[in-house]
Amino acid sequence: MVKEMAGWVLSFCILLVVNGVGVHASEDLQPYRTAFHFQPLKNWMNDPNGPMYFNGVYHLFYQYNPGGPLWGNISWGHSISHDLVNWFILEPALSPKEPYDIGGCFTGSSTILHGSKPIILYTAQDADGAQVQNLALPKNRSDPLLKDWIKWSGNPVLTPVNDINTSQFRDPSTAWKGPDGKWRILIGSEIIKGQATALLYYSTDGFNWTRSDKPFKFSRETNMWECPDFYPVSNIGKDGIDTSFQGNNTMHVLKVSFNSHEYYVIGMYDPQTDQFLLATNDFSVSNTQLQYDYGRFYASKSFYDGAKKRRVLWAWVNEGDSPSDAFKKGWSGLQSFPRSIWLSDTRKQLVQWPVEEIKKLRAKQVNMVSRELKGGSLLEVPGISGSQADIEVVFSLSNPSDAELINSDLSDPQHLCEQKNVSTSGSYGPFGVLVFASKNLTEQTAVFFRVFKGPNKFQVLMCSDQSRSSIAQGVDKSTYGAFLDLDPLHDKISLRSLVDHSIVESFGGEGLACITARVYPKLAIHEHAKLYVFNNGSKSVTMLSLNAWNMNKAQIVPMD
Ligand SMILES: *[C@@H]1O[C@H](CO)[C@@H](O)[C@H](O)[C@H]1NC(C)=O
Ligand SMILES: *[C@@H]1O[C@H](CO)[C@@H](O)[C@H](O)[C@H]1NC(C)=O
Ligand SMILES: *[C@@H]1O[C@H](CO)[C@@H](O)[C@H](O)[C@H]1NC(C)=O
Ligand SMILES: *[C@@H]1O[C@H](CO)[C@@H](O)[C@H](O)[C@H]1NC(C)=O
Ligand SMILES: *[C@@H]1O[C@H](CO)[C@@H](O)[C@H](O)[C@H]1NC(C)=O
Ligand SMILES: *[C@@H]1O[C@H](CO)[C@@H](O)[C@H](O)[C@H]1NC(C)=O
Ligand SMILES: *[C@@H]1O[C@H](CO)[C@@H](O)[C@H](O)[C@H]1NC(C)=O
Ligand SMILES: *[C@@H]1O[C@H](CO)[C@@H](O)[C@H](O)[C@H]1NC(C)=O
Repeated sequence: MVKEMAGWVLSFCILLVVNGVGVHASEDLQPYRTAFHFQPLKNWMNDPNGPMYFNGVYHLFYQYNPGGPLWGNISWGHSISHDLVNWFILEPALSPKEPYDIGGCFTGSSTILHGSKPIILYTAQDADGAQVQNLALPKNRSDPLLKDWIKWSGNPVLTPVNDINTSQFRDPSTAWKGPDGKWRILIGSEIIKGQATALLYYSTDGFNWTRSDKPFKFSRETNMWECPDFYPVSNIGKDGIDTSFQGNNTMHVLKVSFNSHEYYVIGMYDPQTDQFLLATNDFSVSNTQLQYDYGRFYASKSFYDGAKKRRVLWAWVNEGDSPSDAFKKGWSGLQSFPRSIWLSDTRKQLVQWPVEEIKKLRAKQVNMVSRELKGGSLLEVPGISGSQADIEVVFSLSNPSDAELINSDLSDPQHLCEQKNVSTSGSYGPFGVLVFASKNLTEQTAVFFRVFKGPNKFQVLMCSDQSRSSIAQGVDKSTYGAFLDLDPLHDKISLRSLVDHSIVESFGGEGLACITARVYPKLAIHEHAKLYVFNNGSKSVTMLSLNAWNMNKAQIVPMD
């Protein structure tokens, strides 16, 4: 009943919007505004908060400044969707008004207690400047949009007492329930100077939280941890599992945010003792440490989507331009396109892929059949926008043993991509795509591979090279790199890139490594942006297939 009502409300509004609102006339002045990545109509946005699927509706909250394009007056923006693609923007759900959150309603998570009672736990800065945790509840749980949220009268729920640094206590996770019936959350902190910590708290009711004697996990090697996320993954397939699931055939993932990156570990969690035994390397600052994304991607949050039995991941993709550019644009910050996330067959890492609903936006398709790309090839993909597209390309190598030698298995991939850029010919590679390419290639963003033969194994390097992405000065043009856990003797080397005006999200090896970049081209904008496939190595590579789609614009509009 509730579900049907929500559907009716949403479709009714879609009609109104289609008839009532045209495309903005000033689109040319906004070459960097995205077409299918979530962003508010204007102003500043950072971390995704409290994502959930409840009563047939997806909710996305986000750190939002209602008053301007830079960080400040942080509120919880709120948007809802039926498909994770098209969104209605509602009024902010939480604004800094009370003594316990007057300094800003910061990041937090939602939990659906007992499958029917959503709560939000969020960090705030109180009137004394301390970080505290607060709780909010829907005013009317039967309202399919959960428009109004009430801050609990018992706030703050947790204050930084004892050994907790008052400015290092934030980002409560989604709660999970143990076999003892108690809920558990993690909070990022630094209790002893130089010791990054995920604190563990228990509650029987979701309101009254008690700290565990022991931290859930800590590290002396890294900076303070933000935005901890902890969830089970199935080791027999791609299906996601509910955060509180207890049973066999699962492993657990702990993700924390530091150094502007999303680091994770995988292990076995025992809910009886709350011990978490790692199966992967522990958190470190090494460049080979597992990361969700090796580019611009931070403060992520995942949720279990019971409707499609999947775990969905969101993250903040910040800007690489300047504060004065933010004022010119009137906005700052994107959300990544939502990704499904699951454990790889090797169980050594996670795999990510854009949620399937993205296909709704695919318009004109161009397909190229299998062909050999000789060294030095550069092929335009005609009819496809290099600034608003979904691109899938698959390569294979005929004789990987001819690959360039590399003398270490432990190189820093980002450094390798910087050193051996798109203009540096190897044997296998660089080969890949140029997106946001201007007519004479003065501007281009290159996403490519390079294959090496190391002492013990092949190394497949994936790079996203922004060094020539814009003729503009003062915008970030970093190059990013990652290794793909592939064996080029047997495996194909595939790339998927979502290209959207000022962002390119790339998925190598069917989601084994992801790299997100921001770009601000001056020439390669709108219809002037072209797409190419290229091979700049000395050896031929086979392009088994290329499929690319121009993308339609998602509907991201105010509710009223
Ligand atoms: C926050 O809001 C106040 C009141 O609306 C405004 O004066 C101030 O400039 C805002 N600050 C920022 C950083 O947006
Ligand atoms: C709660 O929402 C439902 C569904 O929209 C509505 O029928 C009901 O009147 C609301 N209750 C209150 C107290 O507003
Ligand atoms: C608390 O954290 C802040 C920010 O990192 C730091 O400057 C300060 O020294 C810390 N205080 C203590 C008592 O460790
Ligand atoms: C909160 O929980 C603790 C530990 O379970 C208990 O001792 C305390 O009485 C509870 N407080 C309230 C207000 O329910
Ligand atoms: C997990 O596996 C063990 C041993 O096979 C079995 O006894 C137990 O019932 C299983 N637990 C669940 C929750 O399926
Ligand atoms: C590519 O690398 C070469 C050699 O390191 C360097 O000379 C050149 O400037 C680089 N090109 C770009 C576009 O970064
Ligand atoms: C390939 O390398 C040459 C120089 O080695 C460079 O001029 C050219 O721009 C590169 N091709 C691409 C697609 O970057
Ligand atoms: C490429 O095009 C741009 C813009 O039209 C122009 O400024 C530049 O000189 C051209 N470069 C070459 C090498 O032709």
